[in-house]
Amino acid sequence: MKKYFLLLVIATIALIMGCYYDNKEELFPELSINCDTTNVSYSGTIYNILNSYCLGCHGSGYQVDGGNIRLDNYNDVKTNVDNGKLLGGIVHLPNYSPMPKNSASLSDCNINQIKAWINKGAINN
Ligand code: HEC
Repeated sequence: MKKYFLLLVIATIALIMGCYYDNKEELFPELSINCDTTNVSYSGTIYNILNSYCLGCHGSGYQVDGGNIRLDNYNDVKTNVDNGKLLGGIVHLPNYSPMPKNSASLSDCNINQIKAWINKGAINN
């Protein structure tokens, strides 16, 4: 009887460990709690993403390097959100020029943060 009890204890522990490792963050890294899509703001999140991946062409030299599209201030970013070009570019929708031009796509996390900000009205916060 004692032996079965021990086996039961081991089986229970194994089950708990199994469940512990099957958490959704490990199975689906893109849902990771490390990607904050809740507290997104223009000044704290979006500007930083654009600054890292876009303003090299869409900043002060936008007329020459960025196809005349300027993204270094809220109003110009909002214009390109409202006409669909910003999202179309970063998620590579057909008929939009894929951005960032000639480099790898933004990370899923950054794309989801931009989508979350747009879904909340793309406000200047
Ligand atoms: C290496 C330079 C470069 C980088 C980096 C870059 N762009 Fe562009 N972007 C351009 C050029 C040039 C155009 C004009 C259209 C074309 O040549 O494809 C353009 C066009 C656009 C347009 C208009 C697209 C359309 O279909 O009309 C948007 C919106 C845009 N870029 C957003 C971004 C965003 C957002 C990023 C960063 C994630 C980015 N770009 C990074 C060079 C760049």
